[in-house]
Amino acid sequence: MTKIRWGIVGAARVNERLIPAINRSDLGELIAIGSRRKGAAKDCLLKHLPESENKVSCFDGLDQVINHESVDAIYIPLANEEHTNVALKAIRAKKHVLIEKPMAIKSEEVTILLEEAKKNNVEIMEGFMYAFHPQFDRIINTIKSNILGNISYAHSMFSFPIQPARFYRIDRSIENGGGALWDIGPYAIHTIRQCFKENPKRVMAIAKLNEHGADISTSGLIDFGNSKRATFDISFECTRRSEFEAFGALGRVKCPTVWQPEDKQAKIIINTESSGLTEEVVPAANHFVLEINHFNKAISSDIVPKLSNEDAFWNAKTLESIQQSIKEDGWVNL
Ligand SMILES: NC(=O)c1ccc[n+]([C@@H]2O[C@H](COP(=O)([O-])OP(=O)(O)OC[C@H]3O[C@@H](n4cnc5c(N)ncnc54)[C@H](OP(=O)(O)O)[C@@H]3O)[C@@H](O)[C@H]2O)c1
Repeated sequence: MTKIRWGIVGAARVNERLIPAINRSDLGELIAIGSRRKGAAKDCLLKHLPESENKVSCFDGLDQVINHESVDAIYIPLANEEHTNVALKAIRAKKHVLIEKPMAIKSEEVTILLEEAKKNNVEIMEGFMYAFHPQFDRIINTIKSNILGNISYAHSMFSFPIQPARFYRIDRSIENGGGALWDIGPYAIHTIRQCFKENPKRVMAIAKLNEHGADISTSGLIDFGNSKRATFDISFECTRRSEFEAFGALGRVKCPTVWQPEDKQAKIIINTESSGLTEEVVPAANHFVLEINHFNKAISSDIVPKLSNEDAFWNAKTLESIQQSIKEDGWVNL
């Protein structure tokens, strides 16, 4: 198979993970990167893939990457609120797009992106790298196997104290894409949603907002109907937690490493009424490389992307409803 030629728009911090991943993937190669800041694309490339200096074109701008005739797929690691406009341009230029989570901060924007991708016959996927780690499949297969019974409750916790170097994540209101909800919330909410066959019926959340209107901590409740419910807690001021747990009448599964860095071993604890407690170690795996490999295959063959369009829509719908609940201080129906 011919390699998928990738372009990146934005010299973002997360490129430290994605640039090496694109070049380590079996079917992909990076050929272009652009930044709106002069020299930043080149600096980013030299920092993360110096050996490719002569193979990758660096641009002071994003349009040169979007309209590059040799680029097949574009990775979009821009600020959350910028994803939609740039993704639309890329899709209309007939490029496949991998968009960092959250795909957009409004569900109606996700709908527009999905329709436009269909019209232009290109693949589109939200970049939830954690879903490509073997530990994720192990959790989902445990739930599907029914050894826990029907899942009636799930809980997720994601937090770390935000460092001053990252204060740009909380310098604008939630409505404008800032805060923990749009940064770490997508992981906590997405994982919960994978446990239930139903979509959320209503949500309720409270948050501590800073002077810019960005949430520093948010806790909430998601009602899936028929007594199926989940709670989540995300925070930029609590100690590091990366935990997910789901409960049925027959047992529980817990993963204390669910969104952790790719170079660490993962752990899954299963406790059932019949077999008691087992602890499994899942070897370290680079979920960024696995994600890029998967998207390369989705582009070049007939495999359906693991993260579906419907999933991206419901993720945005749930997150924007949580945002509304924080604002209105009450339940929001979806
Ligand atoms: N999957 C993951 O593990 C993961 C981890 C972190 C973040 N993310 C997601 O990835 C996206 C990017 O997050 P990030 O934290 O990597 O963003 P970031 O470093 O703040 O970069 C976002 C954009 O802001 C511009 N920028 C970067 N540094 C700047 C600076 N010093 N001054 C002015 N502009 C600057 C860049 O665009 P220009 O180069 O065009 O200026 C860049 O593309 C977000 O959607 C986030 O939710 C995913």
